[in-house]
Amino acid sequence: MRQAGRSLPEYRALRGTGSILEAIARPEIACEVTLQPVRRYGVDAAILFCDIVVPVHAIGFGVDVVPGKGPQVAEPFRSAADLPRLRPLEDGDIAHVTDTVRLVCAELSSTGTPLIGFAGAPYTVASYLVEGGPTRTFEVVKNLAHAEPRLFAQLTDRLADMAIAFITAQVKAGAQAIQLFDSWAGSLTPDEYERFALPATRRVMEALAPLGVPRILFGLGTGELLGLMATSGADVIGVDWHVPLDLARGRVGDLAVQGNLDPALCVSDVGVALEATRSILALAGDRPGHIFNLGHGVFPSTDPGVLAEVVAVVHAEGRAGVGGAS
Ligand code: CP3
Repeated sequence: MRQAGRSLPEYRALRGTGSILEAIARPEIACEVTLQPVRRYGVDAAILFCDIVVPVHAIGFGVDVVPGKGPQVAEPFRSAADLPRLRPLEDGDIAHVTDTVRLVCAELSSTGTPLIGFAGAPYTVASYLVEGGPTRTFEVVKNLAHAEPRLFAQLTDRLADMAIAFITAQVKAGAQAIQLFDSWAGSLTPDEYERFALPATRRVMEALAPLGVPRILFGLGTGELLGLMATSGADVIGVDWHVPLDLARGRVGDLAVQGNLDPALCVSDVGVALEATRSILALAGDRPGHIFNLGHGVFPSTDPGVLAEVVAVVHAEGRAGVGGAS
């Protein structure tokens, strides 16, 4: 999960100012940032310090990540004339990321803690490229998808190829699980999701299947989409806090679920956070196939001490060998 301005003081000290892309481009720094929450919290997996816009940045599409704002695209994608700007991703474009993965895996090998690699899902990355930055309305991207479905399919196809290349390189470098972030899928109706997001997502999941690592698919506000997401080929569906975990499981069938503590409940009162944690563990029950996690990224205002207690409770009270916080 994007840890939106990671709450850790050691992160802020190391990260400095400027674009996060500069920190991501330095493998020693990116490795250290990846390991910080593992050391601090003792979580059961590490998530690579990187970003969903790294591949499009690496091929020179003209995107930056502005602190406090998020991704910003200088010349947004608006027509077929923009397609050639999305050339295929080559391993050399992302050597800094695979170097980071190798460093992290070498550090973690003695502990057995796995590294989760990731990429942005085609629809979510397309939303940034078309809108030009974060949006609350998704009006430009949705209108492009409806008005020019063939062009939108070509766009998401190219982004699917990039996600496949990006994730494959991370797994070859040592990542032991992968997550595809379709954070903004919840802006779509089920019908729109089926037409504009699911086909490219499915292609990514199918292409990654031979790698033999668990594939997690996450989106925010996806209550009505969970059943469709479960048909993507993913092994695990990430769930935010809007849907009670037992209901979410009913919607994804036999797949595993990941989630779903509300990050808003982790900012101050440890009692509130632990009560919510315990109620999620109770809903998970004895059934295997639950990865405890937050329902979205950590708020920058979060007290690290609260998260440490959440992890401790999950380890102590979650079903042994199946639960665990990430
Ligand atoms: O904890 C981690 O470092 C995990 C690595 C990670 C980042 N981005 C680093 C980051 C991951 C998994 C992401 C994925 C990502 N990036 C997503 C999908 C997951 C999600 O949270 O929904 C999305 C939508 C993005 C795009 C993005 N990058 C946004 C919207 C922002 C926030 C801008 C802000 O400052 O509020 C970013 C910046 C970003 N990426 C930060 C981090 C730690 C924020 C802090 C910083 O700039 O240091």
